Amino acid sequence: MPYTITVNGTPRTVDVEGDTPLLWVLRDELDLKGTKFGCGMSLCGACTVHVNGIPTRACVTSIERANNAQITTIEGVDASEVGRRVKAAWLALDVMQCGYCQSGQVMSATALLTRNPRPTDDDIDQAMSGNLCRCATYTRIRAAIKQAAGLPTADTREV
Ligand code: FES
Ligand code: FES
Repeated sequence: MPYTITVNGTPRTVDVEGDTPLLWVLRDELDLKGTKFGCGMSLCGACTVHVNGIPTRACVTSIERANNAQITTIEGVDASEVGRRVKAAWLALDVMQCGYCQSGQVMSATALLTRNPRPTDDDIDQAMSGNLCRCATYTRIRAAIKQAAGLPTADTREV
């Protein structure tokens, strides 16, 4: 059955089963490989995209549920000023290690700063708690979020 989603500003129609995860539509049907598969069970955050502006686990979101939604992926996150700031901070602070989790991290961070431009440490911890990083880049992730927000990063929790 055909489903239509707007991905990074472009309407896309795919003909798949309704229970097909949005993650596989993005990766396999639309060739957007930046969104990663980690656990497939909404446990790791590697597959995070924005669905109508809300950070969403694409591995457990069916195309049927996403039908007619506005989807933003890592490939389109810098269309927004906040997304550009987040990406710039990520690069400036050299956040990535293996990189596998990082598109999900950037998507969650961008959603956080879009709804809360000056987050506290607790706000950051709460918003990012569902995004796991096997390389343990959490300290730099928090610093990058603060840099993107224009907040001081010299926090004892980042030493
Ligand atoms: S792959 Fe979706 S949360 Fe882990
Ligand atoms: S940078 Fe390797 S899993 Fe996060």
